[in-house]
Amino acid sequence: MKIAMVGSGYVGLVSGACFADFGHDVVCIDTDQNKVDRLKDGVMPIYEPGLDQLVANNVAAGRLSFTTDLAQGIDGAGAIFIAVGTPSRRGDGHADLTYVHEVARQVGDTLSGDAVVVTKSTVPVGTGDAVERIIADSGTAHKVSVVSNPEFLREGAAIGDFKRPDRIVIGVEDDFGRDVMREVYRPLFLNESPILFTSRRTSELIKYAANAFLATKITFINEMADLCEKVGANVQDVARGIGMDNRIGPKFLHAGPGYGGSCFPKDTLALLKTAEDYDSPTRIVEAVVKTNDSRKRAMGRKVIEALGGADAARGKKAALLGLTFKPNTDDMRDSPAIAIAQTLSDAGVEVTAYDPEGMEQAAPLLPQVTMCDDPYTAIEGADVVTIVTEWDAFRALDLNRVKDLAKAPVLVDLRNIYDPQDVRAAGFAYTGVGRA
Ligand code: UGA
Repeated sequence: MKIAMVGSGYVGLVSGACFADFGHDVVCIDTDQNKVDRLKDGVMPIYEPGLDQLVANNVAAGRLSFTTDLAQGIDGAGAIFIAVGTPSRRGDGHADLTYVHEVARQVGDTLSGDAVVVTKSTVPVGTGDAVERIIADSGTAHKVSVVSNPEFLREGAAIGDFKRPDRIVIGVEDDFGRDVMREVYRPLFLNESPILFTSRRTSELIKYAANAFLATKITFINEMADLCEKVGANVQDVARGIGMDNRIGPKFLHAGPGYGGSCFPKDTLALLKTAEDYDSPTRIVEAVVKTNDSRKRAMGRKVIEALGGADAARGKKAALLGLTFKPNTDDMRDSPAIAIAQTLSDAGVEVTAYDPEGMEQAAPLLPQVTMCDDPYTAIEGADVVTIVTEWDAFRALDLNRVKDLAKAPVLVDLRNIYDPQDVRAAGFAYTGVGRA
């Protein structure tokens, strides 16, 4: 089947490349000429493990191509995916649907045959209805079914998540849409990945409910970590102890500096807005958003504490290892590192940093931070070393070398990747998260 993917950002590009790998004929469309030219040259706009090779293989096999021409790209496509951005609208946190609506208008105006239009972008409940209205208003004579098919890809693991999903959710209102979507996902269906067909509005809400629930799980364990520090308990054992209960499950119970990224912060806010619009408050999610926001600066204060408090910290130097919101991405959006670095700078602490992939994106966001070429250069002369993101490269630092280079042997491990006993035995003062 020919598939058109409108929007060659993170979701569109990964999904398009994976669909091509399944044997579909995929055209990725984007308005950004520069991005399309670079993609044609094999240059990826984002860092995602394995993506460059997947794209190269499928381009070489003639199953994947790129264009800025929407009419040409969707010509003859059985399924047209909308995978454009839905950023938080400035000022009110609502998802900004300008791009989604614009694509729907253009698709309606240029459609050359019957097609299923699939919203893959994360969109609030009722967006499918709006897309359907916009396409109908274009007066197209072709049969169109509008479907919701949210993605559940994690950055850094997106290709694996796409090819071996826990489930595929499809919100559809008619048989035409259902049949085409079955065909699109047939390779996964044969792989026995469960496909859940729901109504369109239900599918749209599933996406937000999933992200809000995961954000809640993280925030819950982060608050337990704070309590552990007060009562003298260990949050990792608490997580293990509760996670072994099948009803709770062990995943997403790693305490840390708070969630960031392009999804949880934006989607929890958008869910709150929907709840407000429908006069159906989601107080738990409200608390999660507030708690997570304040946690990021609190982590900066934790580093200041390790420096001996506000007075002692002024004029000292902190090295941050890891800046991206999580490992294996170059994404800095809503990364805790931003608030942590800011809190430290506000307190008069000089900040150096190293991140394996994120420094280019981080530099404009953190102009006060000195970016270094490797972890050990960042550590040189530091009064405290702080692990902000759990990149593999930081899991086995040469502690003797760190001790020699740093001004003081103080380690703040915001991801609990070190065994406190080992680090203390190496002569460091160690602070983790929720490990009294
Ligand atoms: C998240 C979801 O996991 C995906 O299923 C979803 O498709 C995606 O959002 C989206 O809506 O597009 P992602 O933002 O890539 O994926 O990252 P996660 O791996 O979920 O991590 C999010 C944040 O939570 C990170 O800052 C991470 O460090 C933090 N986290 C995660 C914790 O602090 N503790 C945990 O136990 C897990």
